[in-house]
Amino acid sequence: MIRPAQERLFGVIGRPVAHSLSPVMMNRAFDALGIACRYLAMEITDPTHDIPLLGAVGFEGLSVTVPYKEEVLTVATQVEDDAVQIGAANTLKRTGSSWTAKNTDWIGVVQALRGTMQTTYPEMFSPMGEVLPHHSKRALVIGAGGAARAVCFALRSMGIHTTIANRTLEKAEALCERFHCDLMPLDHLSQADASWHLVIHTTSVGMEGSHNHTIVPPQILGPGVIAMDVVYTPHWTPFLTAAKERGCEIIHGSAMLLAQGVAQLEWWLGMRAPIETMQEALEEALKRRYGAL
Ligand code: ATR
Repeated sequence: MIRPAQERLFGVIGRPVAHSLSPVMMNRAFDALGIACRYLAMEITDPTHDIPLLGAVGFEGLSVTVPYKEEVLTVATQVEDDAVQIGAANTLKRTGSSWTAKNTDWIGVVQALRGTMQTTYPEMFSPMGEVLPHHSKRALVIGAGGAARAVCFALRSMGIHTTIANRTLEKAEALCERFHCDLMPLDHLSQADASWHLVIHTTSVGMEGSHNHTIVPPQILGPGVIAMDVVYTPHWTPFLTAAKERGCEIIHGSAMLLAQGVAQLEWWLGMRAPIETMQEALEEALKRRYGAL
């Protein structure tokens, strides 16, 4: 067993991870807290082999990103209820030689949504800021991959009735069954109108390096609709750009990145994360990459 002597070790594992903004955000948080920790981005190819190795080297906590969020469930000896229900984990915490898996992506979605929803739909919330039952708000989720699963779990926790639209119907059906949502084939969206309070885009279309267009028809977007993208590269995805032009309230993917990271750090360290510092670090990194936000 190796124990790092000067700094506690944390990191993100995935493939690819070179462009991850998590190291900037997490290392700035550790500095602000004044604790000697280092957070690295590590590309791995074999979670079953590589995660125990990272544990033996002394890593205490790992963020997990694409494509390993499902596979890490088989490496963990304990899996928290949220990760079981979502069927994926984005966080690992080590105790001795065993790992516990948790999902903080859904917490990221809830936290990213909360502020804008409180402003746009105050009737949804109690004076204490709790989501009230029977608020009858409706969401449309576009996509049925791993990101959509965390989004659907989050929406269910807020009592928001959800419709899933996806290109491949079987994948949407499985998700609808799991999270009690309604189903809509993606090509039927072009006949729909702006009747959803919230539209969340979860597909990879519009991500940097992929198609520079959106599969979301403009007529479902308009004033009073909150539009959120889980993609944070680029900051202004084609979907969010179109939504802004149509007068929607906008929630960027970086808001979810920030909030899931805050929840990770608090789970690893058992202390409050310096949210404003982490947000500043993210915004600076996004500005360096994309210019003005
Ligand atoms: P992630 O885990 O990041 O969500 P994923 O599991 O590969 O990634 O899911 C990708 C999602 O993007 C899926 O919903 C996929 O639709 P299919 O289920 O039909 O494959 C959607 N997607 C990707 N490219 C798409 C495209 N060109 N048009 C429509 N949907 C697309």
